[in-house]
Amino acid sequence: MSALPGAPHLARAGAELQLDGRALAALAREFGTPLFVYSQAAMLEALAAYQWALQGRRHLVCYAMKANSSLAVLQSFASAGCGFDIVSGGELARVLAAGGDASRVVFSGVGKTAAEMRQALLAGVRCFNVESTAELDTLNAVALALDRPAPVSLRVNPDVDAGTHPYISTGLKGNKFGIAHAQAVAAYRHAASLPGLRVVGIDCHIGSQITQIAPYLDALDRLLDLVEQVEAAGVPIHHVDVGGGLGITYSDEAPPAADELVAQLLQRLDARGHGHRELLFEPGRSLVGNAGVLLTEVLVLKPGADDGSGGKNFCIVDAAMNDLVRPAMYEAWMQIEPCTLRASPPSTWDVVGPVCESGDWLGRDRALAVQPGDVLAILSAGAYGMTMSSNYNTRPRAAEVMLVQGRPQLIRERETVASLFAGERLLGRA
Ligand code: LLP
Repeated sequence: MSALPGAPHLARAGAELQLDGRALAALAREFGTPLFVYSQAAMLEALAAYQWALQGRRHLVCYAMKANSSLAVLQSFASAGCGFDIVSGGELARVLAAGGDASRVVFSGVGKTAAEMRQALLAGVRCFNVESTAELDTLNAVALALDRPAPVSLRVNPDVDAGTHPYISTGLKGNKFGIAHAQAVAAYRHAASLPGLRVVGIDCHIGSQITQIAPYLDALDRLLDLVEQVEAAGVPIHHVDVGGGLGITYSDEAPPAADELVAQLLQRLDARGHGHRELLFEPGRSLVGNAGVLLTEVLVLKPGADDGSGGKNFCIVDAAMNDLVRPAMYEAWMQIEPCTLRASPPSTWDVVGPVCESGDWLGRDRALAVQPGDVLAILSAGAYGMTMSSNYNTRPRAAEVMLVQGRPQLIRERETVASLFAGERLLGRA
């Protein structure tokens, strides 16, 4: 019945918007706003779609935790057997704090420091996804100094167009990411010649919010071409990591289901005689995006002049670009729903935050029947919401609640203002 992104976990019961059967307006009253609320069940189901489709194959799903790195989220995935894709020493520390297993961690990123490499080697990560020959040399030196061989995969830029927003498209020649396809065989030869490294795989990541299967198949073909050349040059490759990037529904996008994507990739692997290889995925958004909402209270209504001058109606809420930056940063469209429907007819509002920037908007030209004190839900906010939040305007970051079997648990306290400047120092007298 519902066209809500996030359904079936998100649904209307009468006037009330519910997540896993819990009225969101009541959660806002109990925990305050702005508030992120996640359905653990929705996250685990999204993971299970990948795992189920990969059954019987050697595989590892490594959740790209940059999408949502809250400890309870990581803990939920770790207990379901999931690995992690990390991009910093900080993310590794989070995985370990959440009870995750370093041997299921792949370490991505275009600018790892030597200190992060040491930390990851000592923790025993599964693999470094290396993005340049210079990084191979640094990692080799770190590994030799610790007397621990570093397992490496080379991130290859397959030069395919993922057909997504330019800021989140990463697999084209003009991007900073990965080793150019034409240079990859030489880079593998170099890696194999370094005594501190052990070549274990190949990887790519072509972009984010991808809604087609074709770019993945193109990228896989380009990777397999390389695997064949590299192995012919005497360097064996164990796993193939196709990255993340599968899109979700924010409005009317219709991305393929994860199991459909997996099935087609497996079919292509088999057809090309590579069915024996271990297959890795690094999904982020598709595991958490539609499992979460951001709740915000309406503070003030500012109707525009009714004189035909084109004045806009502003609905000012207590969440802002510091809580959810995707609209401001990518002009991303995210659905906004009243938590409790009103019977009155809707007007058209720009839903904006209190931050002192015109770019601080959450949704434009939305038909809503609202009054001050109402709670709105911004949907599909489980991915790249909390992790991209900031303290701009000295705004404490939001609290987070996870619904576990339908019961709410506070998984992150709302920040206090005092904690925001706890590490700062006033100048001393000279
Ligand atoms: N692997 C690598 C190497 C990545 O760089 C990323 C995302 C992923 C996996 C996961 O991609 P996903 O499955 O989540 O699409 N902040 C942007 C998205 C940035 C994605 C960066 N890399 C947004 O809010 O749309």
